[in-house]
Amino acid sequence: MPTVYVLNGPNLNLLGRREPAVYGTATLADVERLCADTAAGLGHTVDFRQSNREGELVDWLQEAGAATAAGDAIGAVLNPAAYSHTSIALPDAIEGAGLPVVEVHISNVHRREDFRHHSHVSRVAAGVVVGFGVLGYALAVRGLHELGRHPTAGGLFR
Ligand code: DQA
Repeated sequence: MPTVYVLNGPNLNLLGRREPAVYGTATLADVERLCADTAAGLGHTVDFRQSNREGELVDWLQEAGAATAAGDAIGAVLNPAAYSHTSIALPDAIEGAGLPVVEVHISNVHRREDFRHHSHVSRVAAGVVVGFGVLGYALAVRGLHELGRHPTAGGLFR
């Protein structure tokens, strides 16, 4: 079964306790279960990870890219968290690794502070899911699956 990498950036380990009015009360373990259940229903397994370090996320994107090129994965769902707004290394890694990435944000970043309105990752993302709470992860897993099934349909929107 091909893998869906689900990669989470800084402070998402605190999900459930961190600003629940913004991010909800589900924990990262709950999100992992949601992703695993969604992926299983689509015939995929999930490799779910979180790091507070930008370089580790770069390493994982490269690893996911190699697995995707080998046909062992279909791409990655990525919540880059605060690195969305600051990192050049993450979009460079995505372009370099050449894998499809669906960017997800739990909160609706466009309703929040101005500095959250721009994501460097969005420029290289196949799609972006924003503001659906943790349900966005399930939508992103499904979106990645559908992009794999209909690659030219996805291309129509680029
Ligand atoms: C976030 C939004 C980011 O602006 C923030 O830095 C996060 C979480 C989200 O999932 O809504 O850490 O990516």
